[in-house]
Amino acid sequence: MLYSEKVLDHFSNPRNVGEIEDADGIGEIGNAKCGDIMKMYLKIDNNIITDVKFKTFGCGAAVATSSMATELIKGKSIDDALKLTNKAVVEALDGLPAVKVHCSVLAEQAVRAALSDYYTRQGIDPLPIVGEIKEPEE
Ligand code: FES
Repeated sequence: MLYSEKVLDHFSNPRNVGEIEDADGIGEIGNAKCGDIMKMYLKIDNNIITDVKFKTFGCGAAVATSSMATELIKGKSIDDALKLTNKAVVEALDGLPAVKVHCSVLAEQAVRAALSDYYTRQGIDPLPIVGEIKEPEE
C-alpha cells in the first residue's frame, strides 16, 4: 500500500475543513511547481489556537497533511504551533511516500503564514517570531 491508513482516512474524511469568517489570522501558501494551494484560518484567544479551519485545493497528500496539521495545533499555544514541522505531520500520519513529502511542507508553511498574519494584525513584526516563509519546493 502506497499510503498509510491514516493518510487515506484524513484524505477521505478531512477534519476542520472550511473557513472562519472572523479569523484572527489567515495564511495562504501555494506550491509553484504543482499549483496546489492551501489556506489556513486561525482563531486565537490568549495565545491559544481555539479554532482552526483549512481549505486545500490540492492533491490527496496535501489534503491529508493539512487535516492532520489542524488537529495537531488545535487547542495548542502559538509557541507549540510554531514548532510544528512537516516532519511531525508526516510522522503523525504514519509516513508519506517520498515523492509526496513536499506536500506536507505546504501544511507547515500555511500554519506559519497564518500566524505571521496574526502577528501583523497585532502590530507585531512577525519576522523575528515566525521567520521567513518560503514557498515549498519539490
Ligand atoms: Fe502539490 Fe501535493 S502535489 S501539494
